[in-house]
Amino acid sequence: MSAAAPKAGEPAPAVRHVAIIMDGNGRWAKKRHLPRVVGHQRGVEAVRAIVRAAARLGLEALTLYAFSTENWRRPEEEVSALMGLMKRFILSNLEEFASNNIRLRIIGDYRAMAADVVALIDGALARTAGNTGPIVAVALNYGSQDEIARAAAKVATSGRAITPETIASELDTADMPPLDLLIRTSGEVRLSNFLLWQAAYAELWFTEVLWPDFTPVHLEEALAEFAGRERRYGGR
Ligand code: FPP
Repeated sequence: MSAAAPKAGEPAPAVRHVAIIMDGNGRWAKKRHLPRVVGHQRGVEAVRAIVRAAARLGLEALTLYAFSTENWRRPEEEVSALMGLMKRFILSNLEEFASNNIRLRIIGDYRAMAADVVALIDGALARTAGNTGPIVAVALNYGSQDEIARAAAKVATSGRAITPETIASELDTADMPPLDLLIRTSGEVRLSNFLLWQAAYAELWFTEVLWPDFTPVHLEEALAEFAGRERRYGGR
């Protein structure tokens, strides 16, 4: 892998792929004595602004952790509110994505979700499939261990040798650029089963900011810090 750090005077390598663990919606709401769902609603507003900023900043891919394989354990009312927000997010943003050349992707086993969500997603994927611009990947019913296990099973079934390359070729992110920067909001410092394989050499950036308060200025701050970091990929 060619991964030398830029020499003095050379521009820092461009960030191609950023992923975000959007955490803190519940605490944002709690601080304001509001129901948790209001935090999620405000979280969706933050998503909209960050997608626009990612395109403006020239990212090739933005991956957002929206619903994990573990999130099913939340109270039914909250799960159902999140599903409703997801549907509304797709319905109200699809035309903007389509006309701004954005390619919508889903990572995770979204086909296990409710039939109406699956149908809406399939329509949205088809609507933006011919686009050539930035990829916006939403992780739904996603867990990294599940993704790696599914990829390994596909490689094994096909009779190919199990190697890092063959597994990577079957991950949900297979046709996306390598992950450069992984952001987590709300002060938690863990990966929570998100992009474990892809994060092998990614830079990690943690902020205390709760997701509904996260703005494009914070994204730019993370990118600026990334530009100053030296990535050695295990070399020297
Ligand atoms: C974490 O906050 C956030 C989630 C589990 C869901 C993230 C979802 C959204 C931002 C809205 C939907 C997304 C899209 C792409 C439409 P938390 O509830 O765990 O917060 P807490 O840790 O403060 O309780």
